[in-house]
Amino acid sequence: MLTFVIKILIILPCFIKADDEKFFYLPDDLKIGISSSSYQTEGAWNLSDKSPSIWDVYTHSNIDMIQDKSNGDIAADTYHKYKEDIQLMKKAGFNHFRLSLSWARILPTGFADKVSQDGVQYYKNVLDELHANNIEPIVTIYHFDHPDALEKVSGWLNETMVEAFADYARFVFSEFGSRVKVWTTINAPTFLCNYGYGSGTSAPGLQMPGVGPYICVHNMLKAHARAYRIYDEEFRKTQHGQVGVVVSCGHFFPINKNDTESPDIAYQYECGWFAHPVFSNKGDYPSIMRKRIDENSKLQGYPKSRLPVFSSEWIKYIRGTYDYLGLNHYSSNMVDSVEKDEQTGWYDDSGIIQSVNDSWPSIGSGMKTVPHGFSGLLRKIKEEYNNPIVYVMENGVADYGHKLNIIDFERVNFYYSYMKEMILAITRDGCNVKKYTIWSFLDSFEWGRGYTERYGIVYVNFTDPNRSRTPRQSYYWLKYINNKRNLLSLEEFNNQ
Ligand SMILES: *[C@@H]1O[C@H](CO)[C@@H](O)[C@H](O)[C@H]1NC(C)=O
Ligand SMILES: *[C@@H]1O[C@H](CO)[C@@H](O)[C@H](O)[C@H]1NC(C)=O
Ligand SMILES: *[C@@H]1O[C@H](CO)[C@@H](O)[C@H](O)[C@H]1NC(C)=O
Ligand SMILES: *[C@@H]1O[C@H](CO)[C@@H](O)[C@H](O)[C@H]1NC(C)=O
Ligand SMILES: *[C@@H]1O[C@H](CO)[C@@H](O)[C@H](O)[C@H]1NC(C)=O
Ligand SMILES: *[C@@H]1O[C@H](CO)[C@@H](O)[C@H](O)[C@H]1NC(C)=O
Repeated sequence: MLTFVIKILIILPCFIKADDEKFFYLPDDLKIGISSSSYQTEGAWNLSDKSPSIWDVYTHSNIDMIQDKSNGDIAADTYHKYKEDIQLMKKAGFNHFRLSLSWARILPTGFADKVSQDGVQYYKNVLDELHANNIEPIVTIYHFDHPDALEKVSGWLNETMVEAFADYARFVFSEFGSRVKVWTTINAPTFLCNYGYGSGTSAPGLQMPGVGPYICVHNMLKAHARAYRIYDEEFRKTQHGQVGVVVSCGHFFPINKNDTESPDIAYQYECGWFAHPVFSNKGDYPSIMRKRIDENSKLQGYPKSRLPVFSSEWIKYIRGTYDYLGLNHYSSNMVDSVEKDEQTGWYDDSGIIQSVNDSWPSIGSGMKTVPHGFSGLLRKIKEEYNNPIVYVMENGVADYGHKLNIIDFERVNFYYSYMKEMILAITRDGCNVKKYTIWSFLDSFEWGRGYTERYGIVYVNFTDPNRSRTPRQSYYWLKYINNKRNLLSLEEFNNQ
């Protein structure tokens, strides 16, 4: 309680001066870092005994599915350039670096029968380099790129993937656990399942809309829970770390001002699908999903619901498997409800139509900038899950094209407005946000968009064999924020 009182006293001054942007201080215990993932940056796709991941296979065999027909064979070449990158991170004063492990680089068969010593050593080197430079590593065990060997036996559609993931997780806890205190089991499960096993626009490229994604998420929920329980039972006592999962969530506003139902339904389908089984008191899928997908499945003549059913043992086993809630957030949507049709059922399973508000500015790649959606989402998470610790793991905006766009004022304005809303959500609304992580540190291979979308606060020249790095204005702005712990608008920053 004492710390609570002190916190309020410290926070009060910046609360009073909320309109005076010069005094928009970052809470002391809010840490700022940067984010990345293995396939998007590492390159070295066929080095040593690494096996191909589903993204290696997908990009090589579906060239036209990638906007600029590119791939991650070399990407930003962080496999070779990590030391240089860590110096850049250090100079800007970041607290943490979020990276992911390439499963195929560590366990080439996908199973724990064969270990790549080179792969293990590479990650030990990176983690040691981070510690030597006082940067906290946050490690994602799996970020979209499982070994293709596992896809040959149906990947996430196969329930045996749960134990393959559990063995992989146990292996990395045991190898890297002395160097890692914050673990993420899986990044953005619904994203991978929707596009990889639904629309087919991401690896592994299966087209099974309405069926594949539900099976995929079902198995990923079990896999996540297995990894968390393994950490609890075998490693927590000696390693004292935290394990969570990262969900990707938008925020939703009603088209009709008095409609409180539609935004909640949209939230439950996008975010609650994975989050409700893990973070809610009740566990299991959101009841609205159960109800509407069951009804649709019946109308469509399926003997069973397309949404698989958990046993009560699994519901209990999955519930509460988190030490923090990891959050990726980019933008918001407007939503409206569509009545159920007696013949075809609920539109799109959810009965919700999404659109955007024309008054929202669109920047860079056309993404709508909606900073008040960010604080709205943080409040929703607080309400839904009893105010869990939140680590924001991705937030950012892209610009387009290959020109050397170093003066990225749109990105600075984006970060300024989103961070401001986040600080209000913490100081005014009591949301429990402890980490904020920029997507991304470097320009990266952005999945289906290839290199046409650049999210980096550091520009990467992808036509240069040396993949030279050039920090953007946003890098220097964030460096200032890290040092002064005080949000400054771009205008004020330029006048410094
Ligand atoms: C690795 O892939 C590159 C193309 O990215 C190719 O030139 C090279 O020969 C491959 N190396 C091995 C050992 O297969
Ligand atoms: C599921 O995985 C197991 C173990 O890898 C394999 O034996 C089985 O054939 C797979 N099932 C399908 C349908 O691919
Ligand atoms: C909510 O708004 C809609 C349309 O704007 C209207 O038809 C409806 O009657 C309103 N409902 C209530 C409870 O006010
Ligand atoms: C949508 O745009 C209108 C102006 O056209 C604005 O008044 C309203 O606040 C916007 N809604 C949201 C949720 O941002
Ligand atoms: C990128 O690198 C290539 C090859 O070194 C060079 O010709 C080009 O000018 C560089 N582009 C930029 C924007 O620095
Ligand atoms: C490649 O980049 C590194 C780091 O920026 C630099 O030290 C080195 O000289 C560059 N090599 C070439 C061939 O340009």
